[in-house]
Amino acid sequence: MTNTRAGITGIAAELPDYVLNNEELSKMVDTSDEWIMTRIGISERRILKETGKGSSHLGAKAVKKLLEKTGADPSEVDLLICATVTPDHQFPANANIISYKSGIKNAFSYDLNAGCSGFLYALATAQQFIETGKRKKAVVVGAEKMSSIVDYKDRATCPIFGDAAGAVMVEPVSGEYGIVDSVLRSDGAGLPHLHQKAGGSVKPASHETVDAREHYIYQEGQSVFKWAVSKMADVSLEVMERNGLTHEDIAWLVPHQANMRIIEAVARRMKLDKQKVMVNIEKFGNTTAATLPLCIWEWEEKLRKGDNIILTTFGAGFTWGAMYLKWGYDSDPGK
Ligand code: UT7
Repeated sequence: MTNTRAGITGIAAELPDYVLNNEELSKMVDTSDEWIMTRIGISERRILKETGKGSSHLGAKAVKKLLEKTGADPSEVDLLICATVTPDHQFPANANIISYKSGIKNAFSYDLNAGCSGFLYALATAQQFIETGKRKKAVVVGAEKMSSIVDYKDRATCPIFGDAAGAVMVEPVSGEYGIVDSVLRSDGAGLPHLHQKAGGSVKPASHETVDAREHYIYQEGQSVFKWAVSKMADVSLEVMERNGLTHEDIAWLVPHQANMRIIEAVARRMKLDKQKVMVNIEKFGNTTAATLPLCIWEWEEKLRKGDNIILTTFGAGFTWGAMYLKWGYDSDPGK
């Protein structure tokens, strides 16, 4: 056992106020509450409506709350990674903007794009800096304004996504706790199935790309669905097996919130009871890089020191992964 590991020492989140429910969505496209609840399991999602505010607005609010809650001085934070597919700008990085807005001046900060797997990739990256002792206090934030790339005329994608941000503090912790292991993978063969057609260097924005609605999410739902179930289950089982864990040893599964049916299928393959699976897709939808911290944030008070937790995710790329961590603290209900 190592003497020190990298562990999550605090968590916070930010959600926009506006609630877009299935009833309102049914007036925008040909859909129904019944179809969305049965096929996806989402009842409502939050939307950042205010003009001129992007994902960094949510990210910075989450980070400020995190600093307040953990009592950390912004000057102590020496690394900030923002996972996002909806940065405010192509450049500079959202992480730079979030650091600036939250008073973090001594960190090096950068964005990481791994689709919906961004948060897990970023957490595994921060873990390396902490474990090697190169950094002492890292913030990992998943921040998304998915509504900025959702086509509200496309009924196959618009019910799925929502806006949110979640942030964690990552610090050295005793070797009994913290991040133990992870399996992270990617396969660029996923590109045709899930991407944004225009706006990047291969097809810069033009009148034609706007007219063709190519700046929105393009998704082939069924193939993404199949990949997501098998890959999330495979890596979760792999990380459990190589750490000698059975389903009985797992206190919580934190799955990416893309579709209730995907979550249930993954949990079934892992032989996990429903009660052990964190699910908030019904209220917030798929918030891409923010789903994992948003779940842990909601469940924080139920987490106990020493709980074995598996995080798992799947997203554009394709990218996917699973992480095994031992929760490091009992949360203070008065926080
Ligand atoms: O987080 C990133 C990764 N993304 C995902 O993990 C998403 C994975 N995929 C999915 O969650 C599902 O594939 C969707 C939710 C996107 C779609 O569900 P599905 O059960 O795979 O539906 P489908 O695409 O096979 O469509 C079935 C039918 C079609 O009608 P026809 O051709 O059978 O007449 C669709 O046009 O459902 C229709 N449909 C809808 N009907 C009512 C598609 N969207 C809607 C809708 N309301 N919103």
